[in-house]
Amino acid sequence: MNERPTDLDIVRVNALLADGAPETGADAQLSWRVVYQREVSSTMDVARALAERGEPAGAVAVADEQTAGRGRLGRSWVSAAGGNLYFTVLLRPTLAGLRQLAMIAPLAVVEGIGDVTGLHAEIKWPNDVQLDGLKCCGVLIDADVRGDAPALALVGIGLNVNVDPAQTPELSGIATCLRVALGRSVEREAVLAAVLGRLAELLALVERGESARPRWRARLNTLGRAVRVRIGAEIETGVVVDVAEDGSLELERADGSRILIAAGEVTLRA
Ligand code: BTN
Repeated sequence: MNERPTDLDIVRVNALLADGAPETGADAQLSWRVVYQREVSSTMDVARALAERGEPAGAVAVADEQTAGRGRLGRSWVSAAGGNLYFTVLLRPTLAGLRQLAMIAPLAVVEGIGDVTGLHAEIKWPNDVQLDGLKCCGVLIDADVRGDAPALALVGIGLNVNVDPAQTPELSGIATCLRVALGRSVEREAVLAAVLGRLAELLALVERGESARPRWRARLNTLGRAVRVRIGAEIETGVVVDVAEDGSLELERADGSRILIAAGEVTLRA
């Protein structure tokens, strides 16, 4: 008989957020308001509805299970119940902040994972989070920009905490979770609070006009690697020589020419 999965303890999440992680709390300007539902189609839909009702920045739609979780590039996101984190953060950043969002969202995840577990997660360009070379978290950003007004940005984060993705045949050998990497279960409430703490600190940093690039770059596992990049229907191959200030990938082709790639999907080659 299957046990009913345990619901996320939202009282605990709010208590942890109120305490604030000591090393991140002082600088954080945002106050988080967590909107929890056990099952939703996608937390992106919930956050979009909140935004359309005029909800200010800092709302976080969280669910235990998604029946239509979405990934990047039109893919679906497997969203099993009861052990992982599925959440979407509603932000209204300046354009400067928006430009760095694809860097600071995965950075908040790798640093939050480190705060709670001590694990050293890495970022596969641009914003997949990996442990031991396997994906443990994906980030999906939907942004609306209207003239000079603050943009609306919905930052969706799917983080495999305790449900082993290897149980899903198509994810075996591709994805992992914190529990597998650490060898024990992880309190997902603590991970959620730590990621939000890091995100608030990084948002404050970029809104002050500073760059998150050095911290993001330090966690990239893509630098110096031979890669294949799918850009729409095109494929580029080469070696990653650096990332630009805006986060674009700088690739050196076999003929020595270099290109900057703003968006694409990277496969690391042996
Ligand atoms: C990726 O393809 O790597 C991005 C995956 C993003 C998944 C998260 S789970 C929470 C939020 N709701 C969704 O439907 N998608 C994002």
